[in-house]
Amino acid sequence: MTQKLSTHQPSTQALSFTVNGHKTVIEVDPIRRLVDVLREDMQLTGTKVGCNAGDCGACTVLLDGRQVCACLVPAAQAAGRELRTVEGLGAPDNLSRLQQAFLDHGAAQCGICTPGMLMAAQDLLDRDERPGEQDVLDALGGVLCRCTGYRKIVEAVLSVAQSTNDRPISSETLPNAGAVGSRMAKVDGIAKITGAEKYGADEWPADSLTLRVIRSPHHHARFQLGDLTAFAKVRGLTAILTAADVPGQNVFGVYPTGKDQPVFAEGYVRFRGEAICALVGEAETLAAIADGDVPIAWEILPALQGVAAATAPDAAQLHQTSPGNVLVTGRLSSGNAAGLLKTTEVVARDRFRTAFVEHAYIEPEAGYARRVDDRLEIFVTTQTPYMDRDEVALIMGLKPDQVRIIPSAVGGGFGGKLDLSLHPMIAIAAWKLGRPVRCTYSRPESMASTTKRHPAVIDIAVGADREGRLRAITFEGDFNTGAYASWGPTVANRVPVHASGPYEVDAITCVTRAIYTNDTPAGAFRGFGVPQSAIALETLLDDIAERLRMCPFELRYRNALDRNSVTASGQRLAASVGLRACLDALRPQWDAWRAEAVIHNQQAAAKKGTRLRRGVGVGCGWYGIGNTSLPNPSIMRVGLRQNGRITLYNGAVDIGQGSNTIMMQICADALGVPVTAIDLVAGDTDLTADAGKTSASRQTFVSGTALRLASEDLRRQMLRLANIVEPAQFRLADGSWVISDGQIEHQLYLSGLPTINEHGDLMVGEGRFDPPTSPLDADGQGIPYATYSFSAQLALVEVDIDLGTTKVLRIAAAADVGRAINPTQVEGQLHGGVAQGLGLALMEEYIPGRTENLHDYLIPTIGDIPPIDTYIVEDPEPLGPFGAKGIGEPALIPTAPAILNAIRHATGARITQVPATPDRLRAALRQMQEAAE
Ligand code: FES
Ligand code: FES
Repeated sequence: MTQKLSTHQPSTQALSFTVNGHKTVIEVDPIRRLVDVLREDMQLTGTKVGCNAGDCGACTVLLDGRQVCACLVPAAQAAGRELRTVEGLGAPDNLSRLQQAFLDHGAAQCGICTPGMLMAAQDLLDRDERPGEQDVLDALGGVLCRCTGYRKIVEAVLSVAQSTNDRPISSETLPNAGAVGSRMAKVDGIAKITGAEKYGADEWPADSLTLRVIRSPHHHARFQLGDLTAFAKVRGLTAILTAADVPGQNVFGVYPTGKDQPVFAEGYVRFRGEAICALVGEAETLAAIADGDVPIAWEILPALQGVAAATAPDAAQLHQTSPGNVLVTGRLSSGNAAGLLKTTEVVARDRFRTAFVEHAYIEPEAGYARRVDDRLEIFVTTQTPYMDRDEVALIMGLKPDQVRIIPSAVGGGFGGKLDLSLHPMIAIAAWKLGRPVRCTYSRPESMASTTKRHPAVIDIAVGADREGRLRAITFEGDFNTGAYASWGPTVANRVPVHASGPYEVDAITCVTRAIYTNDTPAGAFRGFGVPQSAIALETLLDDIAERLRMCPFELRYRNALDRNSVTASGQRLAASVGLRACLDALRPQWDAWRAEAVIHNQQAAAKKGTRLRRGVGVGCGWYGIGNTSLPNPSIMRVGLRQNGRITLYNGAVDIGQGSNTIMMQICADALGVPVTAIDLVAGDTDLTADAGKTSASRQTFVSGTALRLASEDLRRQMLRLANIVEPAQFRLADGSWVISDGQIEHQLYLSGLPTINEHGDLMVGEGRFDPPTSPLDADGQGIPYATYSFSAQLALVEVDIDLGTTKVLRIAAAADVGRAINPTQVEGQLHGGVAQGLGLALMEEYIPGRTENLHDYLIPTIGDIPPIDTYIVEDPEPLGPFGAKGIGEPALIPTAPAILNAIRHATGARITQVPATPDRLRAALRQMQEAAE
């Protein structure tokens, strides 16, 4: 995280090279990173920066036809050579075959890795016209993707090599109805595959200053600032910002009553990475200053790391309002679970531990702010523009409408960009200095200072009767929320509802706590605690099955929630409960894979010295869509202009999951027009209504329903204008709509009509949807969510019992999404969820101060992800748009349990701590052997 002092004295020289076929001569410092020359000096921002350390491959370009990381190449090395970047592959109206294949196969989700992937693939295809799958895995092995699970990227490259590019339906060919359910290509896909998309670091006003944050190198400390004014003057800085420069309240947090994190610390820090002050000036001036140069005197305090330290009787209290360092507790109680456990025939119990998990989106936090008269404009990577707007306004002491958030394209979020990061700092700097100010976090800074998945310690017991029916569960979970609250209350309240898993159970008691520590703040991360609780429960279900000599798959099927089931929170599920359908889809593979694994292991055992064992595991998951028992509204608008064009004002930020496309599909079919008649305005708080945050798998269900209502509203207005009643057909002819009821045709002449707003709309349809829920009582009883998505997965693994390594050979993933608005995107979400679940199970563990980069913190690479068979189950949700629910989080929840249960099937070893690294797996195998002796 610490910025090192550069002792290099910059001097420039003229370098000549060819870029995308054009001879270029540029005056630069020859040791500057090539990627900086491309992006900053030549405005070729298609080449991305994810780490600046050779770890992520986002900066991959071709130098004399071979892939290199442009962040590791000094500019001088390009002299006299041919350089090719994504901008040189093809243009929006003339895509290369490879780009077209990426678009058609849905190989770009957020798209931040896409330029690097494309260049690495192009290198391969230039050398080998007919590569096989292993060649693709090898060639793309240096480029990380956090969204796609890589499989659609592999498919896309192979389709070019094998000339089997099956084009999906393009938006041009879609009729008035039929967008929903089609595999329409992403509406923002071309920008992503040509390098034209603008992420947080890709755009800045020409006269921008740069901001860099100085952060605590200590987990817990007091500090005193030295003479910063003198330091700024001597070092040529424009300003140094501290807590004293915050015009409004120096505190933020996602809950109105729980704001506890300072923008700049005031003499006391609670975690390594906390912001102390910010240097503002020219980029070269900042580069010459090391963090340690800034005059700060430290008094290091003992750090409370982990929940055991923070809940010890003599532990220091980290926040005045939280005795015992307990931020919040969650609770659910239904029936007498403890009593039932005493009389239940079979009881399994254990303690489980999970680690901090880093989001590892490839785009670090970035953006710029500028003052426009008495308003602030902030262009920034975010999942939640309206929450950002309101929080920044409080910090700035401004009214919310004085702040405009313009979301950049988002290079991955997964929950990590729901919290403020650089927003208030660039806002304060731009406001105070009257100049635009930009900032891009370094990879170590991003990892040290932003939120993580909560580590959990879970004590759980599960009881079942002889038929395998679940009778009782007791669950106690402590979640390490780190130094600040962030989304800790959400986790503490969501887990109790989901702790029973997607199963019927007679009685359950669940108590959760979010505990303050001196660790990195934990926040929202795909699942809000549910993936952790699923690991614990699903492992014990295999214990129960083993003791009952029952098939683990059958045990789950027997207990699965179904229509009219009553959940642990007392909610009767009236519709859209597709778990059994998911299991039905997986059953043939379960039977076949289990049988094959048993034969493989028998043969392996018979052959001495063969140490590879195979196993198959199953896991199930469910996920309540949207906020837990809290208002969760979304407002969407659709306008009609004089030229007949429809404008979709979409405040639901697309973070790569594809909501821009999904919304266009919903709008088209609800309005009854072709997608090509619709223009998209996305995200900007000045232009769109508040559609809520992009999290909790809510946008398709909540904003999609709001949009359906808005589109129907506009349709009604247009019909009224035409004096035609339903059923009617819309047709665009010469810039005006022709509406027909089958007998009469009426042409809407729009050019003479008055506009009703500054956007030029003649009429606007508006829809608002807030899913019907009810508050939970003291026992957690009520209706926490209007609907749930369900999922089930199988994992086939191969374990090396000597080395303790696990290779996942195959995954089968089924999900009930209500209705797949776009099956390609549902598959993409399933693939991406599986990849993150695999990382959670086997390799990912963030340790504050030790794994703050992408070479010490491992995420799955293209070679780690096996073939994934997907099964989309559509049990329609009556409230959802065209029956749709959500898929983001349910895609991930069953993966880790399925893998852990597969390891157990392969080896007999029960894993109770993730990630199941080779040392932990070997320890579990040893323990098992010792117990048997
Ligand atoms: S930015 Fe160059 S490898 Fe990550
Ligand atoms: S699409 Fe690859 S990182 Fe997002």
